[in-house]
Amino acid sequence: MKRVELKALHDNKESYLGKSVTVCGWVRTSRDSKNVAFVELNDGSQLAHTQIVFDKSKFAEQALGKCLSLGCSLRVVGTVVKGLKAESVEIQAESAELLGGSDLSYPMQKKRHTMEYLRSVPHLRVRTNTFNAMFRVRSQLSYALHEFFHKNGFYYVHTPIITGSDCEGAGEIFKVTTVGYSPKVKSEEEYNASDFFGRTAGLTVSGQLEGEVMACAMGKIYTFGPTFRAENSNTTRHAAEFWQIEPEVAFAELDDIIEIATDMIKYIVRDLLENCKEELKFFEERFEPKLTDKLRNVADSEFARVDYTDAVEILRKSGKEFVYPVAWGCDLQTEHERYLTDEVYKKPVFVVNYPKDIKSFYMKLNPDGKTVAATDLLVPGVGEIIGCSERENDYGKLKKAIEDRHMKLSDYENYLDLRKFGSVPHSGFGLGLERMLMYVTGIGNIRDTQIYPRTKNYLA
Ligand code: 4AD
Ligand code: MG
Repeated sequence: MKRVELKALHDNKESYLGKSVTVCGWVRTSRDSKNVAFVELNDGSQLAHTQIVFDKSKFAEQALGKCLSLGCSLRVVGTVVKGLKAESVEIQAESAELLGGSDLSYPMQKKRHTMEYLRSVPHLRVRTNTFNAMFRVRSQLSYALHEFFHKNGFYYVHTPIITGSDCEGAGEIFKVTTVGYSPKVKSEEEYNASDFFGRTAGLTVSGQLEGEVMACAMGKIYTFGPTFRAENSNTTRHAAEFWQIEPEVAFAELDDIIEIATDMIKYIVRDLLENCKEELKFFEERFEPKLTDKLRNVADSEFARVDYTDAVEILRKSGKEFVYPVAWGCDLQTEHERYLTDEVYKKPVFVVNYPKDIKSFYMKLNPDGKTVAATDLLVPGVGEIIGCSERENDYGKLKKAIEDRHMKLSDYENYLDLRKFGSVPHSGFGLGLERMLMYVTGIGNIRDTQIYPRTKNYLA
């Protein structure tokens, strides 16, 4: 279908003025008056709509009426003229073809809907400004991430979605099976043995373990793919299916990987400030005042850093009454993270050296024997967006960590082998794409960063 995309039309408006063009799109709003009718058309190529003006004397009334219904799709041939708003252009329609009609049952009749309502029409909410902007930012953010790693010599690797081991050891794996329950099966072992892989299998919670395999040969790698967690927490920050970017770097200690994480965040934020101006302006107006100032600060200023032990002291001395009391050894809850980011640091902060007992088995034990070389990057408004650590590269210590947690050693044989043959210091992290999107758009619920969010008891 030969057509001019509306973004191309606006980007090159001078050259199109006075010319006849064919454009396509969906009707976002329409207005009908005595002699003229107006349609705001959007084809997804940009946030702004394009006004189409219909001189009613040139169109049959009934046919034109159909072209004005919200949600319908049109192909319009018309002349590009200057619009009323400065810098704008509009199209004086000569002819219009209804590609797909719509009617009053179109679920988005009103101009503004609640986010809750829009979640009930996931297949159509993309046609709102909010979701159009969100998915354009999501696309640009993904591109910028690939660009950052590519420019810095990282290889993009694809790790399996179906795995036999639980990377985080938290027991939040979705099981993959082709065998249903049968009362004939005598034991769990027999049941598992009869399954597709002859053993238990699940959807990966993280590509890290395989990422380490790749890094321990290719040096610097990253994964970028979906991960799955059957977490019971029904919060605004947890999804059962979410995307992670997981770089893994050989010959890197905790400080080296913190530097990479910082550079990456600054790079992608700068990229959005440059390439998603319209979208950020929209989110600033509708969702988070001063959003662009915040992002400029992220791009231009140092991130904070605090030792877990000091963070606990800060929380204890805050005089705040937390629902979950704070003591050394406790996992930081959202309320604690939010106090640190929103009230103390007011910018991204790396909390480093967590107690080993609240973190995953693979993290490098610090010389104190109590803490691990791990850090979470917390940001205001969202909390944790990155989980990061240096990996335990000592065979004996890693084996002990697996055993201490009563994990099945046989599931981690390959992983342990890496520590037997040419083990090197190495580090990596996981950035949650949706959490990052929440941070850069000010959208408060992870369900509004994904096309079809999957959460506990919810699969649209
Ligand atoms: O901190 P996490 O659990 O770390 C890992 O999975 C490591 N294996 C990463 C690595 O070192 N390669 O998760 C990493 C990030 C979190 O900081 C968060 O941004 C995001 O993944 N995340 C979630 N996002 C949405 N919904 C969930 N249920 C999430 N769980 C983690
Ligand atoms: Mg984490």
